[in-house]
Amino acid sequence: MQNTSDVNDTAYCGITEARLMQNTSDVNGTAYCGIADYYELWSQGDYCWNSSYDFYVNILDGMSSPMLEAGIGTGRIAGAVLGHCDAANITGIDSSPEMLRICAEKYKDFVDADRLRLINADFCDDSFNFPGRFKTVYMPFRTIGHILTDAQMNKFFERIFTSLADDGIFMFDHYIFDRSWAEQHNHTKRIMYSDEQLTISDYYVYDFENHLMDCRISVNDVVVQKFKFRWFIPDEIRNFAENSGFRVSKLFGDFDGSSFDSSSENQIWLLQKNQRYVNTLHRKDSR
Ligand SMILES: C[S@@+](CC[C@H](N)C(=O)[O-])C[C@H]1O[C@@H](n2cnc3c(N)ncnc32)[C@H](O)[C@@H]1O
Repeated sequence: MQNTSDVNDTAYCGITEARLMQNTSDVNGTAYCGIADYYELWSQGDYCWNSSYDFYVNILDGMSSPMLEAGIGTGRIAGAVLGHCDAANITGIDSSPEMLRICAEKYKDFVDADRLRLINADFCDDSFNFPGRFKTVYMPFRTIGHILTDAQMNKFFERIFTSLADDGIFMFDHYIFDRSWAEQHNHTKRIMYSDEQLTISDYYVYDFENHLMDCRISVNDVVVQKFKFRWFIPDEIRNFAENSGFRVSKLFGDFDGSSFDSSSENQIWLLQKNQRYVNTLHRKDSR
């Protein structure tokens, strides 16, 4: 691994700890500590669970390694990509040790073969340097909504730019915010999964002005996780991307690969480095 000077190399369970999460038993925050055991059941309540999987697994099959998954979670996408493509190797970053532990157990063979490297770190933490230079960086399933402020977004995009090879691809998705759906679901219980023993539900409180929502997740009516989440209009994303030196290579409007238009329910971005920025940086480096 290159450029890991800030990473504490005591790996456990195949996971390298860049920064120990504090207070992981707390239900607040993006650590996904309380929901980890239920994550894959809970997330199936999102109608894009399967289509996002198909989209990323198919598109990543043809892309170059080394790859980085920001917010790898339980590794559902990385595990499939590694299974399909022998040449792939993936570094996964996640702030949740609980999610990473599940990922490491599920995909132990890839960890042992050094094709899957897991790092416990907050990708918004300024003291964390992305380890190495990647050909493909991807961040699936609305994970970008966990980056809450403009300052964090600008820094995150700049740091991805730096950690990406000059011909690399940066890919991520979010939904298109639907105000009338949100108004219907504001302050109401939404069942995400249910069987005879288990009911997993969400409760949302929207801050429409600031494009933020409080999300509270309950298992059998006990709150296990709370976090804030942000939505973006496509022009905001375009600005963050272009201000950091990216150009938009493709904007899909759905996980079936259709192009974005005014009726799209999703925004799936493929960014590449704007070569003018790359050349300027190379000139500065050689001075
Ligand atoms: C919606 S889940 C996506 C998981 C996985 N990529 C998938 O497609 O199933 C978001 C993941 O991002 C992680 N995450 C959220 N904010 C983060 C941050 N600031 N730094 C690192 N990981 C973060 C969460 O712990 C969680 O595992």
